[in-house]
Amino acid sequence: METVLSGIRPTGNLHLGNYFGAVKSFVQMQYEYNCYFFIADWHSLTTHPHPENIRNSVKTILAEYLACGIDPEKATIYVQSDVREVAELYLYLNMNAYLGELERVTSFKDKVRSQPDNVNAGLLTYPCLMAADIIIHRAAKVPVGKDQEQNMEMARKFARRFNQIYGVDYFPEPASYSFSDKAVKIPGLDGSGKMGKSEGNAIYLIDDEKTIKKKVMRAVTDSGPTEPNAEKPEPIANLFTMMEIVSDKSTYDHFNELYNTCQIRYGDMKKQLAEDINLFCAPIRERILELLKDEEHLQKVSLLGAEKARENASKTLRDVREIIGFKSDY
Ligand code: ADP
Ligand code: TRP
Repeated sequence: METVLSGIRPTGNLHLGNYFGAVKSFVQMQYEYNCYFFIADWHSLTTHPHPENIRNSVKTILAEYLACGIDPEKATIYVQSDVREVAELYLYLNMNAYLGELERVTSFKDKVRSQPDNVNAGLLTYPCLMAADIIIHRAAKVPVGKDQEQNMEMARKFARRFNQIYGVDYFPEPASYSFSDKAVKIPGLDGSGKMGKSEGNAIYLIDDEKTIKKKVMRAVTDSGPTEPNAEKPEPIANLFTMMEIVSDKSTYDHFNELYNTCQIRYGDMKKQLAEDINLFCAPIRERILELLKDEEHLQKVSLLGAEKARENASKTLRDVREIIGFKSDY
């Protein structure tokens, strides 16, 4: 069975974009693949050196993963910092990564611009740690968004380079993966672009009914179509895309028909959309709140995940030490 792996940094709550773009794929894949999903808490130190509430953020993301339907009996869910073998592999990969190639990574250059007072070595070697995360489980498929493509290329390069340097065929080259053939992009409702934490336009799975309603009612619209079957400008198309994803087909068709016949009232459409988003989020939200109360269960899940992940990671490390030429005594 092929191994699938993905991770997310615990820098905020999960939103609808994360869910439909990534987490939904995990949930479906866990039954067909050997799946590892982890929380990249070490990575968050590259931008948040004093992670005030790191334990709380990790706990929240864990509860949110579970509430979305990731099954800890099927998939291995773990916290990166619980698997110290990753740090050892990161060290080996750092020895074969070169300054020039690391400095050329776009996200590094962006961070140099956005946090000039904290251009730390961890930022520079971010792709080495990400590669270690992936190849420690010898993952073949990695579901990530388009923004991660360059890091994925680096991961492939480092896997290939390790094999070449030591004359082995040990690490597979990990491929980026999108569950549906067309990558899903959840739009923001503020006129243009995608929904995202940093875009400040996210609807979070944990948002309550009132908050959802407020966010949806604020969505950008116009004065309505003036001729039948007019093309939808982006803010309106985004509203419809969101409705297509969370509402029944008949609801979507109803509002589409109203649009095409120039009878649409956006206020009504938004009310319906807010209701349907709430209908979708409510059971997940309830599960998140329940799970957050059950500290013991969350601890059990992360312990079980850490154990399973460590078992597999230490096997890889044993091989790697032997391949490089170190004495392997575990
Ligand atoms: P954000 O953009 O909110 O900071 P992250 O970078 O933490 O989110 O995203 C984690 C994963 O969630 C990404 O790799 C991507 O696959 C997915 N994702 C985030 N936003 C969207 C979106 N609007 N549409 C589809 N997928 C998304
Ligand atoms: N860099 C990813 C992000 O910002 C998070 C991440 C870290 C990751 N290690 C990974 C994703 C390994 C997939 C596989 O979203």
